[in-house]
Amino acid sequence: MPKPHGGKLISRSVKKELSETAELTKLEINTNLSEDIINISKGVFSPLEGFLHNNDLENVLNEKRLADDTPWTIPVLLDFNKQDINEIKEGDRILLTNKENGVLALLDIDEIFTYDKKTLAQTVYGTQDTAHPGVANVYNMKQLLLGGKITLLDSKTRKFDEYNLSPKETRILFKEKGWKEVVAFQTRNPPHIGHEYVQKTALTFVDGIFINPIIGKKKSGDFRDEVILSSYETLIKNYYLKERAVMSILRTSMKYAGPREAIHHAIMRKNYGCTHFIVGRDHAGVGNYYGPYDAHDIFSEFPDLGIVPVFFRSFSRCTKCGSVVNDKICPHDQKYHINFSGKKIRELLQNGEIPSEDMMRKEVAETILKFDKPFVE
Ligand code: ADX
Repeated sequence: MPKPHGGKLISRSVKKELSETAELTKLEINTNLSEDIINISKGVFSPLEGFLHNNDLENVLNEKRLADDTPWTIPVLLDFNKQDINEIKEGDRILLTNKENGVLALLDIDEIFTYDKKTLAQTVYGTQDTAHPGVANVYNMKQLLLGGKITLLDSKTRKFDEYNLSPKETRILFKEKGWKEVVAFQTRNPPHIGHEYVQKTALTFVDGIFINPIIGKKKSGDFRDEVILSSYETLIKNYYLKERAVMSILRTSMKYAGPREAIHHAIMRKNYGCTHFIVGRDHAGVGNYYGPYDAHDIFSEFPDLGIVPVFFRSFSRCTKCGSVVNDKICPHDQKYHINFSGKKIRELLQNGEIPSEDMMRKEVAETILKFDKPFVE
């Protein structure tokens, strides 16, 4: 099993300090930031112990690494507006709160600093186009940033917690199962045949697969969380060996940052104890902002990542071969190929139609259509 990123699994929660917080200045944060805090506290973002300092941010943007040279590609930032909080200064301890997740966390402020949204957007997303959902989020961020360590004091039980294993728990589980090599699969969609193919092809070479859908803020038109979970339950029940597949959720927002996000996705799965990470076509992409294999190329910049990327060319179904193929194994013309187009599948399901079994398992499509509203509005 790989060591956690940076060497040790971060754990930053205490239960007992609650009474000492009454006097602290409070800052109400949004639900996304509260998810970041939970992820930091459980080690999903190891080695981060808090929100980035300015030197780390600069290095992440310019070098795709933290200031100590550890690979890190997506800035984890705490933004705030001066008017939302009483006077604070570096060295203060404040209390971060979020009602929805019941998060109460201490923040030891090391640094209060400014940042440039254009540079942030351009560097992380490769564009300043506000039609890009990640860029739009950057432009909606507040004026200033707070850097410093967090300590989680409390959080509420949440929907789907029964599926929400922490890195500590998955590491124990993989050991119990006797899995030495574990391949992780990132997703934000219900499974089509292409997804199943990349998973099963990778699984052939290792001991188990960790199917790890992202649950959390997505863009309108994406599948709702419960739809993704139910459809995977159906697929695993009918088409996987129980002893070879674990599904667990990851609560964090999709950034749609393509290649940079692929590295971030891999780092989180390394922290869960996975040895391999699947990267297919247009991983974490949106629209046409990234080339279909940009998320493969970026891995060559990280020989020290500590998790092995497993690259897949785009799978499609070839009617002439009579099987699922990619451009490395099929000699036939494109006109014989049926693509597993997420867009097309969504359109069919939106009209209440079951996509062809060439694209999606019938049981999976039926599971999705049981939901009144399968999509984020
Ligand atoms: S993502 O935003 O999480 O990347 P999605 O859930 O669609 O989107 O994809 C999950 C993983 O499957 C990604 O690694 C993606 O590249 C890969 N993938 C999706 N469709 C295909 C396909 N037809 N062929 C190969 N890989 C694919």
